[in-house]
Amino acid sequence: MTVTVNGVARTNDVEPRTLLVHHLRNTLGLTGTHIGCDTTSCGACTVLLDGVPVKSCALLAVQADGTAVTTVEGLASDGQLHPVQEGFKEEHGLQCGFCTPGMMLAAAALLERNPTPTDEDIRWALSGNLCRCTGYVNIVRAVRWAADKGRPGIPAGGEARAEPAATSAG
Ligand code: FES
Ligand code: FES
Repeated sequence: MTVTVNGVARTNDVEPRTLLVHHLRNTLGLTGTHIGCDTTSCGACTVLLDGVPVKSCALLAVQADGTAVTTVEGLASDGQLHPVQEGFKEEHGLQCGFCTPGMMLAAAALLERNPTPTDEDIRWALSGNLCRCTGYVNIVRAVRWAADKGRPGIPAGGEARAEPAATSAG
């Protein structure tokens, strides 16, 4: 089978029973895709398949034959973090980080199809991804930061937080 992973065509012999997540991690060495449950529940294994978030523990590798897959390793480009990655950094959208690759890919797909999401849109887009640490508030803020970064005239995170009132000098 051949799958284009993070822009590079990768051709391998694959056993019919191999899951996509195992192909990515074990054959291609892309261990940024995590396995949290193996039962389609947690979203830690989320990758983009032709731009659509999928749980890679729920797909056979051969089902990805001929597609383009994006993993967390493919989010940054030309040495620049993806805005979602910046958002997670700026808003401290993680603690242990185990859920983070899946969260970021689900968020990146959301912003691709809806660059101006409401917080409700963000929560809905991430509803298939579980986090055991953060309580989700900073994750939503991180995605909001990334969305605002893409909007001219609005400082990243500018709508999520009230700025302190300016004090007069002197
Ligand atoms: S490891 Fe795939 S959903 Fe949990
Ligand atoms: S940061 Fe630990 S599971 Fe989300």
